[in-house]
Amino acid sequence: MCGIVGYVGPRPSQDILLSGLARLEYRGYDSAGIAVVSADGDLEMRKRAGKLQVLRDDLAAHAMPDGTTGIGHTRWATHGGPTDANAHPHLADDDRLAVIHNGIIENFSELKAELTAEGFTFRSETDTEVAAVLLGREFAASGDLVAAFRAVARRLEGAFTLLAMHRDQPGLVVGARRNSPLVIGLGEGENFLGSDVAAFVEHTRNALAIGQDEIVAITPAGVEVTDFDGNAVEVEPFEVVWDASAAEKGGWSSFMAKEVSEEPDAVANTVRGRVQGGAVVIPELDGLDDLFAGITRILIVACGTAAYAAQTGKYALEQWTRIPTDVELAHEFRYRDPVIGDDTLVVSISQSGETMDTLMAVKYARERGAKTLSICNTQGATIPRESDAIVYTHAGPEVAVASTKAFVAQITALYLVGLHIGRVRGVLAPEVAAAQVAELEAVPDKIRWVLEHEQQHIEQFSRWMADTQSVLFLGRHVGYPIALEGALKLKEISYIHAEGFAAGELKHGPIALVEPGQPVFVIVPSPRHSGELHKKVVSNIQEIRARGARVIVIAEEGDAAVLPFADEVLRIPLADPLFEPLLAVVPLHIFAMGLATAKGLDVDKPRNLAKSVTVE
Ligand code: M6R
Repeated sequence: MCGIVGYVGPRPSQDILLSGLARLEYRGYDSAGIAVVSADGDLEMRKRAGKLQVLRDDLAAHAMPDGTTGIGHTRWATHGGPTDANAHPHLADDDRLAVIHNGIIENFSELKAELTAEGFTFRSETDTEVAAVLLGREFAASGDLVAAFRAVARRLEGAFTLLAMHRDQPGLVVGARRNSPLVIGLGEGENFLGSDVAAFVEHTRNALAIGQDEIVAITPAGVEVTDFDGNAVEVEPFEVVWDASAAEKGGWSSFMAKEVSEEPDAVANTVRGRVQGGAVVIPELDGLDDLFAGITRILIVACGTAAYAAQTGKYALEQWTRIPTDVELAHEFRYRDPVIGDDTLVVSISQSGETMDTLMAVKYARERGAKTLSICNTQGATIPRESDAIVYTHAGPEVAVASTKAFVAQITALYLVGLHIGRVRGVLAPEVAAAQVAELEAVPDKIRWVLEHEQQHIEQFSRWMADTQSVLFLGRHVGYPIALEGALKLKEISYIHAEGFAAGELKHGPIALVEPGQPVFVIVPSPRHSGELHKKVVSNIQEIRARGARVIVIAEEGDAAVLPFADEVLRIPLADPLFEPLLAVVPLHIFAMGLATAKGLDVDKPRNLAKSVTVE
């Protein structure tokens, strides 16, 4: 939520800031703004409500003096609507100081009252401007931006990444973070700050991760990181594993289209290097067997699509580890006094590694003594750093707000974790594990088959469905979370009412929704592998057909039994039941994307949403 970029160096900064913001726009696109200290030593600022392009057009029409120190922001609105006035940067200290912010300052009302009583005035409805005015007040006292940050950061409650620069200290950008992301990019004679590495990856792949409650000052000559009391702290260097082109759209019509096409690679790359002689050995978990000894329960916490990956993985985890496994929405978890302790392994799943709800759940679990393992797609992110162990998904950067390739990579990583724990605890026979690994390794080619053989057909079908008002999705067992994911994706990018149900639950209420013509997607398990379940699902199909539903099945190639009852068949290759979700979800991603495209919507930037949800 909100993208932040900062630059100091020898180059004019406007283009660097704007291209950084373009890569961060997935984090929010309600408004955008930049500020620079110009060659004349003035602080110049421009900000506009709307997507980044509005700002670009404005700058093209009315050029602003450039400078070699700058900050930029793309906003997902929290306090105050998406207006020019509420856009960042916010100025203070007689417009000599510019501030940008990601997060929510929870005590902003008290602080604002204090400042108002002192005679300060405000031009926006944002919490950010309060931090700007506080910084301005402290700078006026000390003339030192780092000292001003130290004084202010300690007074702020909630979550924040703040960046600021002052006209009187050109060549310096200062940042502070608590519970919101900030990483440093190290260049030659220039340095960068960003909400994530995408902000600067086209300039450098050398990065530093900043810890919790730390202040960073970047100049062209170097980087200094301290805690809020001014003590120097160690920072963790890392090399960004993907290059700038990985986060480019290339020739694709949208990032989502590109990312769906990368689903096979997301699975293959997540498995790569983690299988030895038919057994799963995850190098990142080397030497951490103790983490899995003595645990009697696994609890997976996540939100949105990541939570559906968790629900899908639960079946395999329980089967392979024989440890009871539950899934909980991260935002529900810590507000109910859950029973957890050192016998609980809390697994978090997050593509961004910054989702505030998930981060808070992980911190809470650690405070309660639980062991924590993070499955994450983003290097340098906060959640992995707050966890005892990390298993990265190697899906590559996911830019579209709708999560697709990260979803299949998350299921894959959970499966790897399950097979790893099963081996370490000695509860999984090597030949069983080897057979499951072989199934997993076959998944990328099977997804490719779906893309090659079904994509066009599904896209055409989704165009026919463009006027649909409501779609239902049904599944059983591992097909149930896939039904939920299919419904979420459709809601999220096509704004159509969609609901996912466990097929068995239908008769307990939701079947009342079915009327003639109602489209219902049904995820049909394999008749060869899941005979009993297949029969039950076919019965459920009969029940909805009898009420006039238009039935669209996602079924294994060659499943003749379901054909007479389907109005439309989307085929997937045969797979072991636990691996079917990795195939069945692909048609649903293509369908949602096709339908939203047919409606003329921007599939990469759906309304009201941001990719990384860093507020609670
Ligand atoms: O970055 P995370 O995986 O933690 O994000 C979790 C959800 O916000 C995310 O999956 C969201 O539901 C997606 N936009 C769904 O496509």
